[in-house]
Parts: sequence; C-alpha cells; structure tokens
Amino acid sequence: MNIPELLDGKRVCVCAGSGGVGKTTTSAVIALGMAALGARVAVVTIDPARRLANALGLAELENEPRRVAPERLAANGLEVTGELWAMMLDPKQTFDELIDRLAPSPARAEEIKQNRVFRELSTAVAGSQEFTAISKLYELAEEGDFDLLVLDTPPSRNALDFLEAPRRLNSFLEGRALRAFLRPTGIGLRAIGLGAGPLLGGLRRLTGIDLVAELTTFFGLLGDMTGDFSDRARRVEALLHSDSTAFLLVTSAQSEPIDEAIWFRRTLEGGGFPFAGVVINRFHHDQNGQPEAPADGDLQRVLADALGTDLAARVHGNFEDFHVLAQRDAANVERLRAELGSEPVLLVPHLDDDVHDLAGLLRVHRYLFASDAERARLIAESVA
Ligand SMILES: Nc1ncnc2c1ncn2[C@@H]1O[C@H](COP(=O)(O)OP(=O)(O)O)[C@@H](O)[C@H]1O
Ligand SMILES: [Mg+2]
Repeated sequence: MNIPELLDGKRVCVCAGSGGVGKTTTSAVIALGMAALGARVAVVTIDPARRLANALGLAELENEPRRVAPERLAANGLEVTGELWAMMLDPKQTFDELIDRLAPSPARAEEIKQNRVFRELSTAVAGSQEFTAISKLYELAEEGDFDLLVLDTPPSRNALDFLEAPRRLNSFLEGRALRAFLRPTGIGLRAIGLGAGPLLGGLRRLTGIDLVAELTTFFGLLGDMTGDFSDRARRVEALLHSDSTAFLLVTSAQSEPIDEAIWFRRTLEGGGFPFAGVVINRFHHDQNGQPEAPADGDLQRVLADALGTDLAARVHGNFEDFHVLAQRDAANVERLRAELGSEPVLLVPHLDDDVHDLAGLLRVHRYLFASDAERARLIAESVA
C-alpha cells in the first residue's frame, strides 16, 4: 500500500494528528507526489516552517492557492506531469471572507468585521483556525478546480479539536445560550440566581469592555446569517463524511502521539468519517538484532580500530541509545497495528535533517510513494 493506492478515487485528503509529528511535511509530500503522477493538486498548509514555505514559493499569505513553478520542481529533478498548487492559510482573512460572502450587504459585512466581539472571535477563539481551515477546504472543493485537495491541519493541542470546531463555533454563533442569557427577563439570568448583571458589570469595570452591549450588537448584526452559518457547517460536515474524502492520520512512533492516534482513529470511526490509514513519521528503525548486524563485541572492536577508543565509545553509546529508541518505536507501532487490523500503516524513517526544502520533501516522498516491499528495503537501509 502506498499513497496513490490509498488515495485512489479520493478528492480530499485531510492530514490529521498531534502537533509536531509531520503533518505539514506529509501534506506537502502527498501533494507533490500526486501532482508528479499527473493530478492537479492543491495543498492548503497551515503555519509551514518559513524555509518550507519559501521552498514552495509561498513568500506571502495570499489565501488562494498559487501554482508552484514547474521549473522550481524540475530544478530538483522532479518531473511533474500534473500541477502542484499551494497556499498558506490565513485564518483571519478566511474568516473575513466568509463574512463578506454571507453578509446581506457590504456595509453590514464591514460593521460585523469592526465589531469587537467579532474581532476577538476571529483571531482568538479556540477553534476558529480549525473552522477556517475546513471552511477554505469546502470553498476549494465547491469551486472544483482541482482533482485533489490536501489539507494540512492546525497545530491543535488535541487533534480532535479539529473535528469539533465547526460544531462548536456554530453553536457559539447561533448563540442560543448566550441570547437567553442576555435577554433581561430571560430565563438565563434568573437561572443563575445571583444574576449575571453584577458579574458582567464587574467585567466591564475590569476590562473596560461593555460585554453585554458588544455581544448584543454582535448578535444583532449577525441576524439571520446564523442560519447560513449552520447551513454551511452542515455542508462542510457532509464533505468531511463523503466517500471521496480520506482522513490520513499522521503520527510519530512515540508513546503519546500513538495513544492519541489510537484515540483519534476510534473517534473517526465512531463519527463515521472515512479513515484511510496511518503515516508513522520519524520512525527509528532498529539495525541491532538484524541478521547482518555484527555482534556487539565485534562492533566495538571494529569501531575502536577505525576511530580510536574515545570516539568509538561515544559512537557506540549513540548506537545503543538509538537501539533503545528503535525498540520503543517498534513496540508502539505494534500497539497501533493491533488496533488497526487491515488498515494501512506507512512508515517514514527519522531523517538526519529537517525537511525544509524540495530535496527534503523528495526524500520523504520515496517512502510514501514506494510499494510495501520497496519501502521495507529503503527503511532497512535508512540507518546504514
Ligand atoms: N521524517 C522526518 N525526519 C526528520 N525530520 C522531519 C521528518 N518529518 C518532519 N520533520 C521535521 O519535523 C518538524 C515538524 O514537522 P512538521 O511537518 O512541521 O510537523 P507538524 O505540521 O505536524 O507540526 C519539522 O522541522 C520537519 O522538518
Ligand atoms: Mg504543521
């Protein structure tokens, strides 16, 4: 199994997982590789490392996919028969654009965007980045210009935030609870007993913000738009549940990300999301105990002959550390496999260098686009 097989017939690939495991890297590699095979692909990246963004020619935030120059790819020896497009998500701008699209008039859109509650919401409310990422994905899918959309996901503390974001934001915008709360005679105030008046008054004294007034204006401005928000959230959910969507879980082989991957995959299944497989990135392959590996005593002697005793001891120490890491990785991978059954697991080794340019992406590409047999061979060689 490899990426092209796994994405056969798919139009959307969502790369999900915990922070720092390689989601941005994997999304870029998938987009690059599928474009090389002839597809017109757009990758929506989120917070890519500056050097990677530069490597893809993403100098600034434009919030629309821009084509990666074929010459740039050719310069790295990559013949791309399709098209690679890439963009960096600008959550604030995506949110603003959403308001522009849904507001009944440009003037109303402007008023909403100036509202303090909206400004706070669009920049700071947890989940808005997740929401805007899926929202952008939905727009691109609607426009239908691409054969495949690859979505990198935000660096959430918890990968699940991503799935819950539309619903959470939507229920905030619908604001049922808040509205009841704000109505002076509403049940909300009475239910609190003490009364929210003093509470909100205190907040105003403390922050200088008349929260009640701001919130009331905000919901007033949103008016009927909340219906459009719900409608949109529903269609976004439908896209995420579609047969032509694939959720790819990206993880490292460390305990915690593996735990999270197991949990995330159960949630995907439970929620009826189309789960396609797992990429285990930065895997440490054990060369100790391989049939061709030298016995430990031999190894120490060979090292000492070649490097002198001091350096040899350090190298041997490194080797031992790596062996411990590799054993842990192998046990974690097994734990995940036991959970998965027949779903594919693609291993990518921990490379010596960060992946921040096209050459780096191509090194990861070899693994994700290889056949199982070829990948196993490459991984066995990766520590040589
Ligand atoms: N297989 C790998 N070997 C070595 N470094 C890697 C590998 N994959 C990713 N990296 C590096 O790990 C860091 C995190 O990767 P990134 O894709 O940004 O993760 P995420 O998007 O999940 O936060 C980056 O510095 C990247 O260059
Ligand atoms: Mg990232």
